[in-house]
Amino acid sequence: MSRVTVGPAATELAGEEFARLLRPGDVVLLSGPLGAGKTTFVRGLARGLGVSERATSPTFTLVRQHRCHNDRGIATLHHADVYRVTSLDEVLDLALGELVEEAAVAVVEWGELAAPVFGADVVTVSIAVTSDEGRTIDVDGAGARDRAEAMARWAS
Ligand SMILES: Nc1ncnc2c1ncn2[C@@H]1O[C@H](COP(=O)(O)OP(=O)(O)OP(=O)(O)O)[C@@H](O)[C@H]1O
Ligand SMILES: [Mg+2]
Repeated sequence: MSRVTVGPAATELAGEEFARLLRPGDVVLLSGPLGAGKTTFVRGLARGLGVSERATSPTFTLVRQHRCHNDRGIATLHHADVYRVTSLDEVLDLALGELVEEAAVAVVEWGELAAPVFGADVVTVSIAVTSDEGRTIDVDGAGARDRAEAMARWAS
């Protein structure tokens, strides 16, 4: 399932609409090269979950928590960026898999580096740069398959 965006506002909107497909317990692994638009996507995703502050890159803190305001039982967004992580132990220490059990979702930038920690039950979002302003956002993963129809609508 993929969606093409032109410009950061379109990627934010894609993130905002993607947020409507999320459920408590979801782990979203975001991948894509430097400057692909991962944080931009999360900014929209956060808005879609009813986070009132602007989501910024957690590069130096590894993970930031945001309180969400929505009627879907998602109370907290954990936004991680594992770019600087040097061992998987550091990712394990974040305990994101356990944290999401409590009415939360986690979204992880450079998530492909952390994938071994989370197993198969994740939603993967990959952003490819196709031109200066063009991006292709691909959604996949076992966690996404049980809502394939909604994802297809998101993509179209
Ligand atoms: N279609 C687009 N979607 C998202 N960002 C875009 C798009 N077109 C241009 N951009 C630009 O690309 C950059 C994306 O930055 P962003 O911080 O979101 O990327 P990132 O993948 O999080 O980077 P990093 O790997 O450093 O964390 C911004 O400068 C944004 O303005
Ligand atoms: Mg980023």
